[in-house]
Amino acid sequence: MSGSEKLNVLQGDDQVSVNARFDLTGKVAMVTGAASGIGQAMAVGLAEAGCNMVLVVHSQSPDETVKRIEAAGRECLVLKCDLGGPIEALQQLSLAAEDKFGRLDILVNNAGIIRRNDAMTYTEKDWDDVMNVNSKSVFFLSQAAAQSMAKRGSGKIVSIASMLTFQGGIRVPSYAASKGAVGQVTKALANEWAGLGINVNAIAPGYIATDNTAPIRQDAGREQAIRERIPAGRWGTPDDLVGAVLFLCSDAANYVHGHILCVDGGWLAR
Ligand SMILES: NC(=O)c1ccc[n+]([C@@H]2O[C@H](COP(=O)([O-])OP(=O)(O)OC[C@H]3O[C@@H](n4cnc5c(N)ncnc54)[C@H](OP(=O)(O)O)[C@@H]3O)[C@@H](O)[C@H]2O)c1
Repeated sequence: MSGSEKLNVLQGDDQVSVNARFDLTGKVAMVTGAASGIGQAMAVGLAEAGCNMVLVVHSQSPDETVKRIEAAGRECLVLKCDLGGPIEALQQLSLAAEDKFGRLDILVNNAGIIRRNDAMTYTEKDWDDVMNVNSKSVFFLSQAAAQSMAKRGSGKIVSIASMLTFQGGIRVPSYAASKGAVGQVTKALANEWAGLGINVNAIAPGYIATDNTAPIRQDAGREQAIRERIPAGRWGTPDDLVGAVLFLCSDAANYVHGHILCVDGGWLAR
Protein backbone atom coordinates (compact mmCIF):
# COMPACT_ATOMS: atom_id res chain seq x y z
CA MET A 1 0.00 0.00 0.00
CA SER A 2 1.43 3.37 -1.01
CA GLY A 3 1.71 6.23 1.49
CA SER A 4 -1.14 8.14 -0.09
CA GLU A 5 -3.45 5.05 -0.08
CA LYS A 6 -2.71 4.54 3.61
CA LEU A 7 -3.56 8.18 4.31
CA ASN A 8 -6.89 7.78 2.51
CA VAL A 9 -7.77 4.72 4.58
CA LEU A 10 -7.00 6.58 7.79
CA GLN A 11 -9.09 9.55 6.69
CA GLY A 12 -11.93 7.12 5.92
CA ASP A 13 -11.73 5.57 9.39
CA ASP A 14 -11.57 9.00 11.01
CA GLN A 15 -14.64 10.05 9.06
CA VAL A 16 -16.69 7.13 10.40
CA SER A 17 -15.59 7.96 13.90
CA VAL A 18 -16.44 11.65 13.55
CA ASN A 19 -19.93 10.78 12.30
CA ALA A 20 -20.45 8.33 15.16
CA ARG A 21 -19.57 10.97 17.72
CA PHE A 22 -22.35 13.26 16.52
CA ASP A 23 -24.94 10.65 15.49
CA LEU A 24 -28.21 10.80 17.46
CA THR A 25 -30.03 7.99 15.63
CA GLY A 26 -32.56 6.23 17.87
CA LYS A 27 -32.35 8.78 20.70
CA VAL A 28 -35.49 10.29 22.20
CA ALA A 29 -35.38 14.03 22.85
CA MET A 30 -37.83 16.30 24.62
CA VAL A 31 -37.85 20.02 23.79
CA THR A 32 -40.02 22.52 25.67
CA GLY A 33 -41.43 25.55 23.87
CA ALA A 34 -41.07 23.62 20.63
CA ALA A 35 -43.80 25.41 18.66
CA SER A 36 -41.78 28.53 17.93
CA GLY A 37 -38.42 30.27 17.72
CA ILE A 38 -35.33 28.62 19.16
CA GLY A 39 -37.23 25.58 20.46
CA GLN A 40 -38.69 24.84 17.04
CA ALA A 41 -35.28 25.10 15.34
CA MET A 42 -33.66 22.85 17.95
CA ALA A 43 -36.46 20.26 17.77
CA VAL A 44 -36.19 20.06 13.98
CA GLY A 45 -32.37 19.95 14.19
CA LEU A 46 -32.45 17.09 16.70
CA ALA A 47 -34.92 15.18 14.52
CA GLU A 48 -32.72 15.68 11.46
CA ALA A 49 -29.82 14.28 13.51
CA GLY A 50 -31.84 11.11 14.21
CA CYS A 51 -33.99 11.72 17.30
CA ASN A 52 -37.62 10.84 17.81
CA MET A 53 -39.16 13.87 19.42
CA VAL A 54 -41.33 14.80 22.38
CA LEU A 55 -42.60 18.33 21.86
CA VAL A 56 -43.83 20.22 24.91
CA VAL A 57 -46.07 23.06 23.77
CA HIS A 58 -48.31 25.62 25.41
CA SER A 59 -50.70 27.95 23.57
CA GLN A 60 -49.25 27.95 20.04
CA SER A 61 -49.95 25.24 17.46
CA PRO A 62 -47.13 22.70 17.04
CA ASP A 63 -48.24 21.86 13.46
CA GLU A 64 -45.28 23.44 11.65
CA THR A 65 -42.74 21.77 13.96
CA VAL A 66 -44.48 18.39 13.63
CA LYS A 67 -44.60 18.71 9.83
CA ARG A 68 -40.86 19.38 9.64
CA ILE A 69 -40.00 16.53 12.04
CA GLU A 70 -42.15 14.06 10.11
CA ALA A 71 -40.54 15.26 6.88
CA ALA A 72 -37.21 14.24 8.46
CA GLY A 73 -38.68 10.74 8.93
CA ARG A 74 -38.95 10.88 12.73
CA GLU A 75 -41.81 10.23 15.13
CA CYS A 76 -43.33 12.91 17.30
CA LEU A 77 -45.27 13.00 20.56
CA VAL A 78 -46.92 16.33 21.36
CA LEU A 79 -47.65 17.16 25.00
CA LYS A 80 -49.47 20.31 26.03
CA CYS A 81 -48.41 21.76 29.35
CA ASP A 82 -48.26 25.05 31.25
CA LEU A 83 -44.73 24.88 32.64
CA GLY A 84 -45.65 27.58 35.13
CA GLY A 85 -48.13 25.18 36.76
CA PRO A 86 -47.77 22.57 39.50
CA ILE A 87 -44.70 20.36 39.41
CA GLU A 88 -46.83 17.20 39.21
CA ALA A 89 -47.67 18.19 35.62
CA LEU A 90 -43.95 18.50 34.82
CA GLN A 91 -43.25 15.05 36.24
CA GLN A 92 -45.95 13.58 33.99
CA LEU A 93 -44.08 14.77 30.87
CA SER A 94 -41.11 12.43 31.20
CA LEU A 95 -43.42 9.55 32.18
CA ALA A 96 -45.44 10.18 29.00
CA ALA A 97 -42.23 10.17 26.95
CA GLU A 98 -41.22 6.82 28.48
CA ASP A 99 -44.72 5.40 27.85
CA LYS A 100 -44.54 6.30 24.17
CA PHE A 101 -40.87 5.61 23.35
CA GLY A 102 -39.63 3.51 26.28
CA ARG A 103 -36.85 5.99 27.12
CA LEU A 104 -35.83 9.62 27.37
CA ASP A 105 -32.24 10.42 26.35
CA ILE A 106 -32.26 14.20 25.92
CA LEU A 107 -34.07 17.10 27.57
CA VAL A 108 -33.83 20.64 26.20
CA ASN A 109 -35.30 23.16 28.66
CA ASN A 110 -36.05 25.90 26.16
CA ALA A 111 -39.45 27.44 27.07
CA GLY A 112 -39.21 30.89 28.57
CA ILE A 113 -41.02 34.19 28.98
CA ILE A 114 -40.00 37.78 29.57
CA ARG A 115 -41.94 40.66 31.18
CA ARG A 116 -40.61 44.18 30.67
CA ASN A 117 -41.32 46.81 33.32
CA ASP A 118 -39.54 49.32 35.55
CA ALA A 119 -38.03 47.66 38.62
CA MET A 120 -39.56 50.41 40.80
CA THR A 121 -43.11 49.22 40.01
CA TYR A 122 -42.47 45.59 39.04
CA THR A 123 -45.33 43.34 40.21
CA GLU A 124 -45.24 40.14 42.23
CA LYS A 125 -47.15 38.37 39.44
CA ASP A 126 -44.56 39.31 36.81
CA TRP A 127 -41.82 38.16 39.17
CA ASP A 128 -43.48 34.81 39.97
CA ASP A 129 -44.67 33.98 36.45
CA VAL A 130 -41.21 34.45 34.96
CA MET A 131 -39.38 32.64 37.75
CA ASN A 132 -41.80 29.70 37.57
CA VAL A 133 -41.53 29.15 33.81
CA ASN A 134 -37.87 30.09 33.34
CA SER A 135 -36.20 28.51 36.34
CA LYS A 136 -38.51 26.48 38.60
CA SER A 137 -39.69 24.35 35.66
CA VAL A 138 -36.09 23.89 34.50
CA PHE A 139 -35.18 22.37 37.87
CA PHE A 140 -38.21 20.09 38.27
CA LEU A 141 -38.34 18.96 34.65
CA SER A 142 -34.62 18.16 34.84
CA GLN A 143 -35.24 16.24 38.07
CA ALA A 144 -37.99 14.13 36.45
CA ALA A 145 -35.89 13.51 33.31
CA ALA A 146 -32.81 12.59 35.34
CA GLN A 147 -34.76 9.95 37.26
CA SER A 148 -35.48 8.30 33.92
CA MET A 149 -31.94 8.82 32.54
CA ALA A 150 -30.24 7.54 35.69
CA LYS A 151 -31.87 4.12 35.21
CA ARG A 152 -29.85 3.69 31.99
CA GLY A 153 -26.76 5.54 33.21
CA SER A 154 -26.78 8.16 30.47
CA GLY A 155 -28.56 11.32 29.40
CA LYS A 156 -28.12 14.88 28.20
CA ILE A 157 -29.84 17.93 29.68
CA VAL A 158 -29.41 21.30 27.98
CA SER A 159 -31.11 24.43 29.33
CA ILE A 160 -31.41 27.71 27.49
CA ALA A 161 -29.76 30.48 29.47
CA SER A 162 -29.21 34.04 28.18
CA MET A 163 -26.77 36.94 28.08
CA LEU A 164 -28.70 37.91 31.22
CA THR A 165 -27.25 34.85 32.93
CA PHE A 166 -24.16 37.09 33.07
CA GLN A 167 -25.52 40.65 32.70
CA GLY A 168 -28.34 42.49 34.48
CA GLY A 169 -30.35 43.86 31.55
CA ILE A 170 -32.73 46.81 31.78
CA ARG A 171 -36.40 46.63 32.88
CA VAL A 172 -36.34 42.81 32.99
CA PRO A 173 -35.39 42.05 36.62
CA SER A 174 -37.20 38.71 36.96
CA TYR A 175 -35.87 37.55 33.58
CA ALA A 176 -32.29 38.34 34.64
CA ALA A 177 -32.86 36.59 38.00
CA SER A 178 -34.43 33.55 36.33
CA LYS A 179 -31.66 33.19 33.75
CA GLY A 180 -28.98 33.66 36.40
CA ALA A 181 -30.70 30.77 38.17
CA VAL A 182 -30.57 28.65 35.00
CA GLY A 183 -26.78 29.05 35.01
CA GLN A 184 -26.45 28.12 38.67
CA VAL A 185 -28.91 25.21 38.48
CA THR A 186 -26.96 23.91 35.47
CA LYS A 187 -23.75 23.83 37.50
CA ALA A 188 -25.45 22.44 40.63
CA LEU A 189 -27.08 19.57 38.72
CA ALA A 190 -23.92 18.84 36.75
CA ASN A 191 -22.02 18.39 40.01
CA GLU A 192 -24.56 15.87 41.32
CA TRP A 193 -25.33 13.99 38.13
CA ALA A 194 -22.05 13.84 36.16
CA GLY A 195 -21.22 10.67 38.11
CA LEU A 196 -24.52 9.13 36.95
CA GLY A 197 -23.58 9.57 33.29
CA ILE A 198 -25.86 12.58 32.83
CA ASN A 199 -24.39 15.69 31.19
CA VAL A 200 -26.05 18.92 32.32
CA ASN A 201 -25.10 22.01 30.33
CA ALA A 202 -26.62 25.25 29.08
CA ILE A 203 -26.57 27.39 25.96
CA ALA A 204 -26.63 31.17 26.33
CA PRO A 205 -27.97 32.70 23.12
CA GLY A 206 -27.12 36.28 22.26
CA TYR A 207 -29.72 38.50 20.61
CA ILE A 208 -31.86 36.22 18.42
CA ALA A 209 -34.70 37.33 16.14
CA THR A 210 -37.77 35.61 17.67
CA ASP A 211 -41.08 36.60 19.32
CA ASN A 212 -39.15 37.10 22.57
CA THR A 213 -37.20 40.02 21.10
CA ALA A 214 -39.90 41.42 18.76
CA PRO A 215 -40.60 44.49 20.94
CA ILE A 216 -36.94 45.59 21.03
CA ARG A 217 -36.49 44.93 17.30
CA GLN A 218 -39.50 47.16 16.60
CA ASP A 219 -37.73 50.05 18.36
CA ALA A 220 -35.42 51.19 15.52
CA GLY A 221 -32.94 52.95 17.80
CA ARG A 222 -32.65 50.00 20.16
CA GLU A 223 -32.41 47.49 17.29
CA GLN A 224 -29.55 49.44 15.74
CA ALA A 225 -27.72 49.92 19.04
CA ILE A 226 -27.83 46.18 19.72
CA ARG A 227 -26.82 45.21 16.18
CA GLU A 228 -23.87 47.59 16.18
CA ARG A 229 -22.59 46.13 19.46
CA ILE A 230 -22.60 42.54 18.10
CA PRO A 231 -19.14 41.74 16.66
CA ALA A 232 -20.75 39.45 14.04
CA GLY A 233 -22.69 42.51 12.84
CA ARG A 234 -26.13 40.91 12.80
CA TRP A 235 -28.84 39.48 15.04
CA GLY A 236 -28.79 35.71 15.44
CA THR A 237 -31.40 33.38 13.98
CA PRO A 238 -32.86 30.29 15.70
CA ASP A 239 -30.84 28.13 13.26
CA ASP A 240 -27.63 29.64 14.68
CA LEU A 241 -28.29 27.68 17.89
CA VAL A 242 -28.75 24.24 16.33
CA GLY A 243 -25.08 23.23 16.05
CA ALA A 244 -24.51 23.97 19.73
CA VAL A 245 -27.43 21.85 20.92
CA LEU A 246 -26.48 18.94 18.64
CA PHE A 247 -22.94 19.04 20.04
CA LEU A 248 -24.05 19.12 23.69
CA CYS A 249 -26.57 16.29 23.10
CA SER A 250 -24.06 14.05 21.32
CA ASP A 251 -21.31 11.69 22.47
CA ALA A 252 -18.83 14.36 21.33
CA ALA A 253 -19.75 16.22 24.55
CA ASN A 254 -19.52 13.25 26.93
CA TYR A 255 -16.87 14.99 29.07
CA VAL A 256 -18.58 18.41 29.05
CA HIS A 257 -20.36 19.08 32.35
CA GLY A 258 -21.77 22.28 33.86
CA HIS A 259 -20.74 24.44 30.90
CA ILE A 260 -22.64 27.48 29.63
CA LEU A 261 -21.94 27.70 25.90
CA CYS A 262 -22.43 31.24 24.57
CA VAL A 263 -23.73 31.48 21.02
CA ASP A 264 -23.86 35.24 20.77
CA GLY A 265 -22.04 36.54 17.69
CA GLY A 266 -19.28 37.66 20.08
CA TRP A 267 -21.51 39.88 22.29
CA LEU A 268 -19.89 38.86 25.59
CA ALA A 269 -16.37 39.05 24.24
CA ARG A 270 -16.77 42.75 23.63
N1 LIG B 1 -34.62 35.42 21.45
C1 LIG B 1 -33.55 35.73 22.16
O1 LIG B 1 -32.82 36.69 21.85
C2 LIG B 1 -33.18 34.92 23.36
C3 LIG B 1 -31.95 35.21 23.96
C4 LIG B 1 -31.58 34.47 25.07
C5 LIG B 1 -32.39 33.47 25.55
N2 LIG B 1 -33.59 33.22 24.95
C6 LIG B 1 -34.41 32.13 25.51
O2 LIG B 1 -34.67 31.20 24.51
C7 LIG B 1 -35.85 30.48 24.85
C8 LIG B 1 -36.78 30.44 23.66
O3 LIG B 1 -37.24 31.75 23.39
P1 LIG B 1 -37.49 32.31 21.91
O4 LIG B 1 -36.59 33.45 21.74
O5 LIG B 1 -37.46 31.19 20.93
O6 LIG B 1 -38.94 32.94 22.03
P2 LIG B 1 -40.40 32.32 21.82
O7 LIG B 1 -40.61 32.03 20.37
O8 LIG B 1 -41.30 33.26 22.52
O9 LIG B 1 -40.36 30.92 22.56
C9 LIG B 1 -40.75 30.72 23.88
C10 LIG B 1 -41.49 29.42 23.96
O10 LIG B 1 -41.80 29.13 25.33
C11 LIG B 1 -43.13 28.68 25.41
N3 LIG B 1 -43.74 28.99 26.69
C12 LIG B 1 -43.95 30.22 27.22
N4 LIG B 1 -44.62 30.13 28.38
C13 LIG B 1 -44.84 28.81 28.60
C14 LIG B 1 -45.50 28.08 29.61
N5 LIG B 1 -46.08 28.69 30.67
N6 LIG B 1 -45.56 26.73 29.50
C15 LIG B 1 -45.00 26.10 28.44
N7 LIG B 1 -44.37 26.75 27.44
C16 LIG B 1 -44.29 28.09 27.51
C17 LIG B 1 -43.85 29.44 24.31
O11 LIG B 1 -45.05 28.81 23.98
P3 LIG B 1 -46.41 29.69 23.80
O12 LIG B 1 -46.04 30.84 22.93
O13 LIG B 1 -47.36 28.73 23.20
O14 LIG B 1 -46.79 30.14 25.19
C18 LIG B 1 -42.82 29.47 23.19
O15 LIG B 1 -42.94 28.37 22.35
C19 LIG B 1 -36.42 31.20 26.08
O16 LIG B 1 -36.04 30.51 27.25
C20 LIG B 1 -35.75 32.56 26.02
O17 LIG B 1 -35.67 33.15 27.28
C21 LIG B 1 -34.00 33.92 23.86
